[in-house]
Amino acid sequence: MDKRMDRGNQGGRESRLQSTPESRPQRDPGRSPEHALDKGAGTDAGSDAEAVVAGADGMPGLNAAAPEVFAAARTRRSIRAYRPDPVPPALLRDIVELGRHAPSGSNLQPWRVHVLTGATLLRVGGAIKAAFLSGEPGHRRDYDYYTDPVFEPYLGRRRACGWGLYGTLGIGKGDHDQSRAYRARNYEFFGAPAGLVFTIDRRLEKGSWLDYGMFLQTIMLAARARGLHSCAEASIASYPDIVRRELGLGPEWVVICGMAMGYADEANVVNRFQPERIPLDDYASFHD
Ligand SMILES: Cc1cc2nc3c(=O)[nH]c(=O)nc-3n(C[C@H](O)[C@H](O)[C@H](O)COP(=O)(O)O)c2cc1C
Repeated sequence: MDKRMDRGNQGGRESRLQSTPESRPQRDPGRSPEHALDKGAGTDAGSDAEAVVAGADGMPGLNAAAPEVFAAARTRRSIRAYRPDPVPPALLRDIVELGRHAPSGSNLQPWRVHVLTGATLLRVGGAIKAAFLSGEPGHRRDYDYYTDPVFEPYLGRRRACGWGLYGTLGIGKGDHDQSRAYRARNYEFFGAPAGLVFTIDRRLEKGSWLDYGMFLQTIMLAARARGLHSCAEASIASYPDIVRRELGLGPEWVVICGMAMGYADEANVVNRFQPERIPLDDYASFHD
């Protein structure tokens, strides 16, 4: 192994152990190497980054902070009403391409995503919505998302989320018609101009599903970075046979979820809903 590369690698590891991106003082983003890379917006900036870190002089820039992810993660929220404005196909490709950078155990990259727009989006969404509204029997998710029953403390959080959303919409507890009509909006991808459908090879194990979550979040953060919003939709996975039929997929593909993507409708009240999070100390223990 090239000794300079080896030294560079070790230096990177040590520094990472000593300080996290959060604890390190942020550099002037205008002068940081990753800012220079970001100028290539619209291209796969990752390949530029690889070119930099693989330079002949070790790995300059390996420890450079990439602070934009904080803004993307903090402003990401599930958006359930969209403007009709279409998303340029190149922009959708750009966002989905960032998913390639998600990590996965042994680099298996278990993801497969179908990006739907235009007539296809309407056809797939319409077929699911029709089945939902007519109460067509025999549809079931390929996997269990939740335990049955859901137990505390998760049950309380789930209820708070549901009541919070329906409260924001002014839908009361016993208002089944309105709640059904609202649930049907899931199948219209909430009016978004783009809908993504995520599938995974049925033979893959839990570890690959763990990888998949990272892929999903990478795409949602990429959408934010480009000024778009999203909403992951397990609801789409409740009709896997319809999804497979409409997309011409074989039974070996499990439908994990859908995702609405587009520009947020700022005027729609539903987008005001922001469920609370448990505080840091309720989910993190720091052991020294
Ligand atoms: C995998 C996954 C599937 C989801 N499915 C749905 C869905 O079908 N419909 C919906 O309205 N929200 C769905 N959500 C959004 C969650 O309700 C939301 O992420 C959670 O309440 C936290 O709110 P936030 O995303 O606005 O921060 C889903 C989220 C995830 C991660």
